[in-house]
Amino acid sequence: MKLVEIAKGIYDVGVKDWNIRDFHGYSTYQGTTYNAFLIVDEKVVLIDTVKKEFTDQFIENISAIVDPRKIDFVISNHTEMDHSGGLQRVMHRIGEEKPVFCSKMGAKNLSLHYGTKMNYQVVDSGSEMKIGARTLQFLETRMLHWPDSMFTYLKEDKILFSSDAFGQHYAGHEKYDDEIGDAIMPHAGKYFANILLPYAPLILKLVDEVVRLGLEIKMICPDHGILWRKDPGKIINAYVAWSKQNPENKAVVVYDTMWQSTRKMAEAIVEGLISEGVPAQPLNLRNSHRSDVMTEVMDAKAVIVGSPTLNNGLYPTVSDFLTYMKGLKPQNKIGGAFGSFGWSGESVKLIHAELEAMRFRMMDADLKIQYVPDGAGMETCIEYGRKIAKAIKS
Ligand code: FEO
Repeated sequence: MKLVEIAKGIYDVGVKDWNIRDFHGYSTYQGTTYNAFLIVDEKVVLIDTVKKEFTDQFIENISAIVDPRKIDFVISNHTEMDHSGGLQRVMHRIGEEKPVFCSKMGAKNLSLHYGTKMNYQVVDSGSEMKIGARTLQFLETRMLHWPDSMFTYLKEDKILFSSDAFGQHYAGHEKYDDEIGDAIMPHAGKYFANILLPYAPLILKLVDEVVRLGLEIKMICPDHGILWRKDPGKIINAYVAWSKQNPENKAVVVYDTMWQSTRKMAEAIVEGLISEGVPAQPLNLRNSHRSDVMTEVMDAKAVIVGSPTLNNGLYPTVSDFLTYMKGLKPQNKIGGAFGSFGWSGESVKLIHAELEAMRFRMMDADLKIQYVPDGAGMETCIEYGRKIAKAIKS
C-alpha cells in the first residue's frame, strides 16, 4: 500500500476495507476506510488505530515510516471498535506503559471495551500539548457521536483530526476532496443521515464553538473516507445545512407489499404528488436498503409510509424501517400512513402511531384499502398524493 504524507511529517497510516458491505446495519456499497494518522515530530504520535482485523496491515504501514517502538503515545479520539480495535496490539508493540490520551469518557469506555489496563491519560477539552515544533489541541465532542468522541487539532498545520465527523464510507483510489470532487457528497450525506442526524443540534453548537475558538482549518482528516484539503468549508457548510433540517419540497413514499396492492397504492400516491409538481419516489423496502431510504428521508418534507397488515401487525421490513428512522430522529416532517388489508387492517393505525411518536405533522386522514385497489381506489390514492403535495407547498 502506498503511504501518503498528507503534510510534512504527517502520514495517513490507515487501511482500506474494500469488501465491507454492511457496517452495523448501514449499507456500504463502496467499502470504507479506517484512517489513522502518524505525526513525526520530536514526539512521535499516533492518532487512532483501525478495526481489529486490519491490525497487521496497520502495523506494517506504521513500520514503513518509523519503528513502532519510537511512537511516544497514542491519541484515541473515539472508542468505537473500527478505530480502537487495533489498540491493544499496537500498545503491545509500541510499549504497554506508553500513554493513551483520550477524553474522560474515552478512558471509561476503552476500559469497558478492553478490560486490560492501559495507561489512559485524560485530556481536558481545550487543553494543549507541545510535541516539538507542533502543538496539539483537544476538543471534546461528546455525543458526536459517542460519549467519548473528541477532535484533535494540530495548531501549526491547521489540521483537524475529526474522528467520525465529516467522514464518508467510501474506499476508492482518491485520497482528497479535490481528486473526487462533488461525487463524494452523496457519500457524506448518507453518512450524516445514518450516523449523525440524531445529534444535529449538537453539531450546530460545535460549529459555533469552533468559530468562538477561532480555529482556522486548512485540512480536515476524518477517520473514514477522503480528506478535505481543497475546501474544508464545503463539508462544514453542508453539515450546518443538514443539521438545520430545513427539508426540501419533496416526498418519499416508503413501503413494502405482500400481493402488490400496497405497491399500487404507493405508486398512485407518488403520481398524485408529481402531478402537483412535487418530486417524489416510491421506495420498496424489499429493494431499497434502510440506510439509502434514510438518506432520501433526510431532506424530504413528507415521509409517507405504507404496509399491508400481516397477522394483525406491520410487515417486518416496515417495522424495521420505522424503528431505524425513529432512532435517527428526523425533524420537520409531514407524515402519512397507508396500506392494503384483508380483514383486520391494523397496519395503518400502527404506522400512524409511530410517525406521531416521531413528532411528524400527520395528514388529517390516512388511507386504507381492502384487498386490491380498483379504479376508484387508485383515484383515491392519487388524490391523497395531491393533498400531501398541497400540504408540502403550504
Ligand atoms: Fe467510525 Fe463511530 O466509528
